[in-house]
Amino acid sequence: MPAIVLLGAQWGDEGKGKVTDLLGARVDYVVRYSGGNNAGHTVITPDGQKYKLHLMPSGALSPNATTVLGNGVVIDPKVLLEEMDGLAARGVDTSGLLISGDAHLIMPHHRALDRVVERYLGKARIGTTGRGIGPAYGDKVARTGIRAQDLLDPGILRQKLELVLREKNQVLTKVYNRKAIDVDAVVEEYLAYAGRLRGHIADTRAVLWDALDRGDTVLMEGAQATMLDLDHGTYPFVTSSNPVTAGACVGTGIPPARVSQVIGVIKAYTTRVGSGPFPTELFDEAGAHLLKVGDEYGTTTGRERRCGWFDAVVGRFAVRLNGITDLVVTKLDVLSGLPKVRICVAYEIGGERVETMPTTQTAFHHATPIYEELDGWWEDITKARTWSDVPANARRFLERVEELCGARISVAGVGPGRDENVIRHHLLPPAPPR
Ligand code: GDP
Ligand code: IMO
Ligand code: MG
Repeated sequence: MPAIVLLGAQWGDEGKGKVTDLLGARVDYVVRYSGGNNAGHTVITPDGQKYKLHLMPSGALSPNATTVLGNGVVIDPKVLLEEMDGLAARGVDTSGLLISGDAHLIMPHHRALDRVVERYLGKARIGTTGRGIGPAYGDKVARTGIRAQDLLDPGILRQKLELVLREKNQVLTKVYNRKAIDVDAVVEEYLAYAGRLRGHIADTRAVLWDALDRGDTVLMEGAQATMLDLDHGTYPFVTSSNPVTAGACVGTGIPPARVSQVIGVIKAYTTRVGSGPFPTELFDEAGAHLLKVGDEYGTTTGRERRCGWFDAVVGRFAVRLNGITDLVVTKLDVLSGLPKVRICVAYEIGGERVETMPTTQTAFHHATPIYEELDGWWEDITKARTWSDVPANARRFLERVEELCGARISVAGVGPGRDENVIRHHLLPPAPPR
C-alpha cells in the first residue's frame, strides 16, 4: 500500500501543515523526513484551534495517525519536549511519537555557530532561522554528529561531545570571540532530555516497512521546500537538507518504488523568507496586498515574508524534479480583489527568453519575469467547495497554472481551516462507508 510524499514546491510556507492535517484522518503514519525546527507548520482544526508545529509532524492533530521523526530530521530535544508539553497542555496526545535513533541532534554549539556565522557573513548572510540547522547537518556530513541513539549511552554521549567540542570551542573562542561551551553542562542537560525521550526512540525504518507491508498508508510530510533544497535549490540561499521527493526516501528509509503519489503544495503566488534570488518579487501595491491579505509573516521567526506573483518556471521545475502527481494550490482566496493577476511563464535573461530553470545562479540572479496577465475576480471564494463554485476567472487562473506546471490541480485552498478547500479530485480514495 502507498507511501505518499507531501512537499513544498516553492520556497516554503506553502501550507504543507494544513494539507497534511487535511489528510491526517485517512493515513496511518505521518513522518517528517528532513529539516528540523526551522519549519513552522500551521494547522487550524475544525474547532478553530490554531497550532504552530516546528518538529512534531502535523499528523499529531489526527488522533489515529502515528507520528514519526525519520533519520533525516535534525532534532533539538529541548524544542521537541517543549512542543510535546505544549500540545499535551492542549489535550493533544503525543505519547506515540517515534524517533529514529539515527536522527541527528541539534547541540548548543550548532545554535551558537549558526548565529555567529550569519553575523560574520554580513550582507552575504543566508538569513537562516538561527536554529542551528546548517551546523548540525554540517557535523552529520563531517561524521562528527551526535545522534538520538547516543542519548541511550551516557559514556558515548560524553565521548562524542568531548571530541567535537575540542574543535568547535577553538572555533567559537578563537575565530568568533565567543565563550567556550562546557562539556559537563551539556552532558547533564542532554541526559535529562534522554530520560524523557528514551521511550520514543525506535527502529523507525522497520516500523514503516512493516506498516507498508500491512497495507497501511504512510504520509511523508516535507518541511522547507524544493527551491530551498541543498542540491536543487537556489544555492547557497537554501537550507542544509533535501526537502525533495528523493530526500523523503533517504530521510525515512522507505524505498523509492514504494512511493505511489507525490503531492506538491504550491501557493497561488510566491513567498520567500530570508535572502536569495526571487524573480517575481513585488515591491508595489499588489505585493502589499499579498503580504496583508495573505498574512505573510513567518511562523518560526515572525519575519515578514517577501511576496511575488506565481512563478510557473519554478512550478514546472518542482513538478519534474519531484514527480508531483497532484498539486494543491493554496491561498487562492488571497488573490480575490486584485483587478489583474499575473503568472510568470518564462524569464528574460540577457535578452533571451528562458522557459526552464537557469543553469547558473548568476543567470537566475539576472532573470526578469515574463508575465501573462489574466483578469482577476472580486468574489469572496472562501465558501467555495466544488469546482463549479469557483468564479470563472479564478478557474481560468488555475487551469493556466495547471497547464504551465504540467500536473493536475486536485485541490485549491480557499482559507486556512482544514475544510476550506475546493476538492476537484480526491487526494486519497474516499473513506469506505462505516
Ligand atoms: P507550511 O510551512 O508549508 O506548513 O506553511 P505555513 O503554516 O508556514 O504558512 C502557511 C499559512 O497559510 C498558514 O498561516 C496557514 O494557516 C495559511 N493557509 C494555508 N492554506 C491556506 C489557504 O488556502 N488560504 C488561506 N487564506 N490561508 C491558508
Ligand atoms: P517550512 O517547513 C520558509 C529558509 C530560511 C533561510 C534558509 C536557510 O515552514 O516551509 P535554515 O535555518 O534552514 O538554515 O535557513 O531557509 N527556511 C524556510 N523558509 N519556510 C521554512 O520551513 C523554512 N525553513 C528554512 O528562511 O532563508
Ligand atoms: Mg512554514
